Amino acid sequence: MKGGVGKTSTVIGLGETLATNPSDSVLVVDVDTQANASYCLAGEEIFKELVRDERTIDAFLHRRLVDGDNCEIERFIRKHVSHLSHQNRHLDISLLASSPDLRVTEREIIFYLTKRNLSMEAIEGKTIGILAPAIELFRQQYTYVIFDCAPGISAFTTAAISVSDIIIIPTIPDFLSTLGLAAFARSILKERRHNRSNSAAYVLITRKNKTKHHKEHHDLIKGRAGGPDSVFGIFDTVIPESAIIPQALRSVNDAHPTYTQKYADPIGNIFSGLAKEIRGIK
Ligand SMILES: Nc1ncnc2c1ncn2[C@@H]1O[C@H](COP(=O)(O)OP(=O)(O)O)[C@@H](O)[C@H]1O
Ligand SMILES: [Mg+2]
Repeated sequence: MKGGVGKTSTVIGLGETLATNPSDSVLVVDVDTQANASYCLAGEEIFKELVRDERTIDAFLHRRLVDGDNCEIERFIRKHVSHLSHQNRHLDISLLASSPDLRVTEREIIFYLTKRNLSMEAIEGKTIGILAPAIELFRQQYTYVIFDCAPGISAFTTAAISVSDIIIIPTIPDFLSTLGLAAFARSILKERRHNRSNSAAYVLITRKNKTKHHKEHHDLIKGRAGGPDSVFGIFDTVIPESAIIPQALRSVNDAHPTYTQKYADPIGNIFSGLAKEIRGIK
């Protein structure tokens, strides 16, 4: 629901870290119109090329939902987008990019379908009906599929949540974020279509500073996550508020950057810790 909590930073850091394992592949699906994850993972050149060639998720959904074109999702995925290498191999990251047109497209699709007397629920259902089989295909092709969601309510975000096994809720440990967290987690879990064992929502504490206020709210959330009827878990990994996070996540200028250059400690350790926890859930 919230912006500025570190969703996109988490997608980039986690995606690139998971892909350092030579036997693992990562697909990032960007459903945020700001397309920051697409831009950061692929770099300006590839990102512009994808938008120009209409190989983006909004173009795909428009063709399927409005044009009635039965196109395959695979054509919209750009393989090998990462410039980063680790131990002499490029990170195996693929991208289903977003574009700034997604906002327009989503509105257009909704307008088009409501004119045909479809309710919002039916539109979400149609979107899920298209994304769900695609995700089943991705499950076989990639070790990890990560969605970067937009803040607020969106049919595409709802669809992403409904097909996911693990929902990461980046949360700044302050009063406002803590308020309503359980209700939010409960509403998210209701969206899910399936009931895979181990699938759940997990809070990731982000942007934590050294104040007493943040410590208190972190402890509060931890207590609730550990409660008997809790609807969410919590990662042990904490992303601190620090200028080195945005600095590290900015593309490295070097023509052949390595993962280790980009994720110098302590950032590398933090994301490795998170990746380890994710692998543990899987
Ligand atoms: N741990 C952090 N410490 C300091 N700045 C951060 C941190 N995480 C994210 N930021 C900065 O905050 C802004 C929002 O982060 P972002 O990951 O884009 O959040 P979201 O996707 O939830 O909107 C960006 O400018 C980002 O660089
Ligand atoms: Mg974002």
